[in-house]
Amino acid sequence: MGDAREPLIRIRSVSRRYVRGVDEVHALEKVSLSIPVGRFVAFMGPSGSGKSTLMNLVSGIDRPSEGEVLVAGQSLGELDEDELAEWRARHVGLIFQFFNLIPVLDARENVGLPLLLTDLPKAERLRRAETALRVVGLEDRVDHYPRTLSGGEQQRVAIARAIVTDPDLIVADEPTGDLDARNAEAILQLLRQLKNDFGKTIIMVTHDPRALRFVDHAFHLDKGLLLEGADAQRADRAVQLAAGGGLLSAQAEATHPGAAG
Ligand SMILES: Nc1ncnc2c1ncn2[C@@H]1O[C@H](COP(=O)(O)OP(=O)(O)OP(=O)(O)O)[C@@H](O)[C@H]1O
Ligand SMILES: [Mg+2]
Repeated sequence: MGDAREPLIRIRSVSRRYVRGVDEVHALEKVSLSIPVGRFVAFMGPSGSGKSTLMNLVSGIDRPSEGEVLVAGQSLGELDEDELAEWRARHVGLIFQFFNLIPVLDARENVGLPLLLTDLPKAERLRRAETALRVVGLEDRVDHYPRTLSGGEQQRVAIARAIVTDPDLIVADEPTGDLDARNAEAILQLLRQLKNDFGKTIIMVTHDPRALRFVDHAFHLDKGLLLEGADAQRADRAVQLAAGGGLLSAQAEATHPGAAG
């Protein structure tokens, strides 16, 4: 990709098939891609195209039927279940569409949860949780319970929880799917800031065409296949049009001269 750095993520000819009765579902077929350190990328494509499946393989939640997933030089297939869980706790921060906050815990306690897997004392866990809440701009909401926070604020708490362990990789499945336009943009902006300010590598599954303005690259999936070359460019352009051309034409012109419009 013209980048001298070793990619953080290298996916080699990965397939994932599910057996359903007598049928086999080909959720992913021979997908290969690399993502350099410190990039913000999107996985896009129609419903059922394999986006979540691919994301779950990259974050070690699921294993491929075939092929290899390497993250920071570690082949995830070589780890047993316990090692994989430990690897995930140390290296991956997860963000979901519906925030998944615990209602009986306040913001600071929710954010501190992943640190329970470490042997840090409670005071230090809470201090780190406060730091993470400051990063997402919620330092004045540390003792609020989820039901007293707006949707956008709840997603920011969830992002603080994802970064509290200082993971190399942040993985977000439809993080703006349940938010209005204004909050969605704020969350995309925040993810971009985590990349810019802290060098995080971020993978986001999204249907949101506006996301294209915030990411460095979009991978397009269709029916379990990764689109490449002219097909990928066509998919990029279709998303730009869906986002309402005007705003995007300047950027499209800069990155693909002559491709806008
Ligand atoms: N556990 C499973 N068992 C059987 N089939 C599955 C399973 N998980 C996913 N699939 C199938 O694999 C395909 C890809 O699913 P996936 O969840 O990756 O799609 P997606 O692109 O994330 O879609 P969406 O945008 O709707 O979330 C779909 O046809 C789905 O039905
Ligand atoms: Mg999905």
